[in-house]
Amino acid sequence: MVSRIIPVDPFDLVVFGGTGDLARRKILPALFRRFCAGQMERGTRIIGAARTEMDDVAYRAFIAEALIEFNEGKGGCEPGKIKEFQKILSYVTLDARGELGWSELSEKMHPGRVRAFYFSVGPSLFGDLALRLHQYGMADSDTRIVVEKPFGRDLETARALNKSLADHFDESQIYRIDHYLGKETVQNLMAIRFGNMLFEPLWNSQYVDHIQITVAETVGVGGRGDYYDRSGAMRDMVQNHLMQLLCLIAMEPPSHFDPDAVRDEKLKVIRALGEVDPKDIVRGQYLADDEKPGYLEHVENPRSLTESFIALKLDVVNWRWSGTPFYLRTGKRLKSRTSEIAVVFKETPHNIFDDDNDRHRNILTIRLQPNEGIDLDVTIKEPGPGGMRLVDVPLDMTFSEALGPEGEDIPDAYERLIMDVVRGNQTLFMRGDEVEAAWAWTDPLIAAWEKGATKPIPYDSGSSGPEEALALMHRDGRKWRDLRI
Ligand code: BG6
Repeated sequence: MVSRIIPVDPFDLVVFGGTGDLARRKILPALFRRFCAGQMERGTRIIGAARTEMDDVAYRAFIAEALIEFNEGKGGCEPGKIKEFQKILSYVTLDARGELGWSELSEKMHPGRVRAFYFSVGPSLFGDLALRLHQYGMADSDTRIVVEKPFGRDLETARALNKSLADHFDESQIYRIDHYLGKETVQNLMAIRFGNMLFEPLWNSQYVDHIQITVAETVGVGGRGDYYDRSGAMRDMVQNHLMQLLCLIAMEPPSHFDPDAVRDEKLKVIRALGEVDPKDIVRGQYLADDEKPGYLEHVENPRSLTESFIALKLDVVNWRWSGTPFYLRTGKRLKSRTSEIAVVFKETPHNIFDDDNDRHRNILTIRLQPNEGIDLDVTIKEPGPGGMRLVDVPLDMTFSEALGPEGEDIPDAYERLIMDVVRGNQTLFMRGDEVEAAWAWTDPLIAAWEKGATKPIPYDSGSSGPEEALALMHRDGRKWRDLRI
């Protein structure tokens, strides 16, 4: 299979926070890989902007270092490409809240071409940046703005952020990033559901017993303790990434694969989420092991009540899903880095095989990482003579095997999402009302445990989370899938 690279028209991309961690680790390496892949036409310009005083030469050197450190040889970038890439980089020293740098930046802009402004800064600066762009004449119809999570910390703050952007930009110009939507397999979810006849007729509570969504990480909170301790797993992962996965799994088929049709359907799912019983939520905090500190030491707050793990059971209360629970779990310092969605089908209504007393069910597993791919567990006869004993085996489609070299070098989420911004395709970005609806659902749950000052349950680093999370499913006669090592 030959990879299709469709070049995009020359564009200007300004990265506010251009010297920050996200720019170094993700944004610039992603742009570099698209550059190496030949997707950027001559004349494209990338402009870093931040408070740090620097000139173009110093910025180019600074980014070259980041590319060496974070590109990890991905994306077929040959030696020498960094030098070429450096030529499209420049830098403006700029103060988001003052006047410094804004005239210089606006003079750099080429009228009549797509220009994108990436707000790779804390949300407290979103409103200031939007206002300055407007004041300095850079907020016209060719402009797109890209904002990162966290998009607020509750409904009220998300509304205020939406308003501060909407004062100067139309919703069609705002790209709210949830990098999970840029993952290859996450998009494949839609292809599997809406590009095949096989699954959709079974995709409802009549045939699906339950759905499990797991995003397990082995890393701890690392150097982000301060941010994380104010967020916790619910705000950091569930309100956005897991919610988006849930929407794609549960939504009705949109009439077209276009941004508003898809986002309308996702919004309906969020609005259909039922109330969650507090006993269906398990929150945990990781303990230290021989090598690494525990959560409380990491965040330097011995009394912290913030969760680094959460498991919950929820219902999508609509015609399609009534009666099929969704179980979600995510946590840090777990046994393995595994992100997957498992659609567990019901058992056959009647067993005709007298030799076999086991329970069998089909499970469709969509593996987001590692080893992106899809498994379908099917029941077959155990080979050999001696009766009809049945065994479940996976039909395994690992993308890197099924798709050849193309499947091995899957563009990372940021590559795809930034190119979508340039193309003007909002399908994989969250709309303002979606984000608000997600907070509206999350807020009362968080308020309830904050009010009760509920303590998260300690769990061992390298485990599958607190025992109580296992019990959450056992109680219903179900079981989490193992976290594969
Ligand atoms: C981020 C969270 O949005 O997603 C992090 O803030 C988390 O806490 C990360 O580690 C996980 O992303 P990925 O792509 O590594 O699964």
